[in-house]
Amino acid sequence: MSRIESLIAAMTLAEKLGQLTMATSDSAVTGAVMSTNLGAGIVAGTIGNVLNLYGAEKVGAVQQLAMEKSRLKIPLLTCLDVIHGHRTLFPIPLGEASLFDPILWEATAREAAKEAAADGIHLTFAPMLDVARDPRWGRIAEGPGEDPFVGQVMAQAKVKGFQGSDLSQADCLAACAKHYCAYGAVTAGREYATTEVSRRSLREIYLPPFEAAVAAGVATIMPAFTDVAGVPLTANRALLKDYLRHKLGFDSVLVSDYNAIAELIHHGVASDLVEAAALALKAGVDIDMIANAYRDGLPGALERGLVTMAEIDTAVKRVLRLKEQLGLFDDPYRRGGTESGPALMARRKLARDVATRSIVLLKNENATLPLGNGRLAVIGPLADAPGEMRGCWPSAGRAEDSVSVLAGLKTALPGQDIRYAPGVDIESTDESRIAEAVSLCDGADTILLCLGESIGMSGEAGSRAHPGLPGKQRALAEAVLAGAVGKRVVAILFSGRPLIVPELSERVDAMLAAWAPGSEAGNAVADILTGRASPSGRTPVSWPRAVGQIPVFFGQRPTGRPADPKDHYTSKYLDIPNEPLFPFGHGLTYGAFDYANLSVTPDKARENDSFTISVTVINHGAREASETVFLFVHDMVASITRPLLELKGFDRITLKPGDSGIVRFTLPARNLRFPGADLEPLFEPGEIEILVGPSADRARLLPANVRLV
Ligand code: GLC
Repeated sequence: MSRIESLIAAMTLAEKLGQLTMATSDSAVTGAVMSTNLGAGIVAGTIGNVLNLYGAEKVGAVQQLAMEKSRLKIPLLTCLDVIHGHRTLFPIPLGEASLFDPILWEATAREAAKEAAADGIHLTFAPMLDVARDPRWGRIAEGPGEDPFVGQVMAQAKVKGFQGSDLSQADCLAACAKHYCAYGAVTAGREYATTEVSRRSLREIYLPPFEAAVAAGVATIMPAFTDVAGVPLTANRALLKDYLRHKLGFDSVLVSDYNAIAELIHHGVASDLVEAAALALKAGVDIDMIANAYRDGLPGALERGLVTMAEIDTAVKRVLRLKEQLGLFDDPYRRGGTESGPALMARRKLARDVATRSIVLLKNENATLPLGNGRLAVIGPLADAPGEMRGCWPSAGRAEDSVSVLAGLKTALPGQDIRYAPGVDIESTDESRIAEAVSLCDGADTILLCLGESIGMSGEAGSRAHPGLPGKQRALAEAVLAGAVGKRVVAILFSGRPLIVPELSERVDAMLAAWAPGSEAGNAVADILTGRASPSGRTPVSWPRAVGQIPVFFGQRPTGRPADPKDHYTSKYLDIPNEPLFPFGHGLTYGAFDYANLSVTPDKARENDSFTISVTVINHGAREASETVFLFVHDMVASITRPLLELKGFDRITLKPGDSGIVRFTLPARNLRFPGADLEPLFEPGEIEILVGPSADRARLLPANVRLV
């Protein structure tokens, strides 16, 4: 009999349900605070998993309770949201997505895993893989942006980074792909709201990143709080059991979101905790995160015949198997310890490099950037706000360990004349200090406006109906612009979303999206502003001109009346253009790149063939810079309408001034399949447009036509 089988044979019902229960250490919560007497539950065997507890000593102490005081001595699983770093913070995922670099996406997850494992963590609730096209939704900050292909590549990289090559190793974490699925489609961008997505949209947009995570061997998956067309994910047998487990073959642990099982009652699909627990278990959810629904509801569900003991045992087996894979039975104290100084230094350097590459130069009129040697006025509430640089899931990252913009500039420009005034707070309506800030402009050659959101204004429960500059920041910007006539004005936006700021964008000389760059924020911003590094970030979301455009994204399906400015009765607005302010993939550099000689061979392909695509990229600018090249396709005529652009690849090339290079892609014809009428992958002969270029702006793409036969 295996260890797991003998344990299950020995377990009481309460102990089995304990393995399906996750309690919080009461330190940090993201929902209704639940009272748990953690120590007593661990000793009694009625709590087998813990979240929000970290620190080698603290974790060691509760692990000791399980291993020395409980009857069956089953090791605890400890979990934490290590989303973009643990003590060393990297940019938020939306900022990291701007790198379009899976190697670095994996590297930051690897480093975060080392740091969190040293703090005794076994599992991270990451990567968050929710494709999102609505900047009103605060959690757009946590994910890969608007495109499912980016989500797939990020899923693979993050799972590999967190889990390493052997999950039982002391520096590896179990990853958790979340929030399965379509959470990013919440109605009106309102947090936790219902979603209405078609089965086709699920297959084409929201499921692919999770399919990639399963293919990469992700250890756990978390269903979303939300529903899909009236069926909450936490009780969604079709999507959890039928699709995830039976069709994709995912046979590891499903962990509910925070109190989500109990919230099935609010959803209106369960009348009490017994029914809620039964629905979740039968849908395939193994661990109940802090609702105590399994502990308090499943005994009654057994009595009422709503569930069977076999179903409970199946869930317990998955949890125990995960603990075995993590090596917890072999050594429950394996994770936890101190890291060397050089390791920490190397991690900070990685954080700086990644933060520098996450910054997107949206506008740079008259080569305003990089800065010259003139006097600087640094104005705005995000200029000296190290805590706000951390991002929406700061885990153990401390404000005092983060570098502010002001500090970074002072380090990079020693002895330079740098004046600073906040002008306003991030959200307050107090305008009394604007005049003082404006007065700094007189003695300055360049004004840096550091504007944007606090970390609490994005991420979970961070929906905003007016996702622009909060508080009185717009008034500050307008006053500075009015007072800075003849001066260069550079706006740096810190946010968890594309901020809708057309009025600012039109008037400043340069504008950067810095997102939330993490612990090394100030040094990264200084690297870009001083030209120590050339900006290379590319926005992973289309940047709306107005809330009225939402959702605006490049993968729109065609319409029967495509926009035509000469024809009133076509798909357009009366008051603004259809196009976003900045397209997906937009990002300027300090180089100047052109594309030529697009070559695609062969010109026709069968399903098992591949296309070889190459393009010449030339840097005719004055500085070395890196260019991200995107590969799109458009299936022009198909049995189901196909998006006007579909992303199928991206790569990066670095070129010195005057140099040129060739970027190559191999595109298997199989990758041009799409869900047919039955939603199964369909390879359909026909003409395909291949498009290569710097962003989803069609006018800048080189096209070539090929055929599938
Ligand atoms: C939260 C979030 C989820 C997180 C979990 C644990 O409510 O929805 O992303 O992993 O609770 O903190």
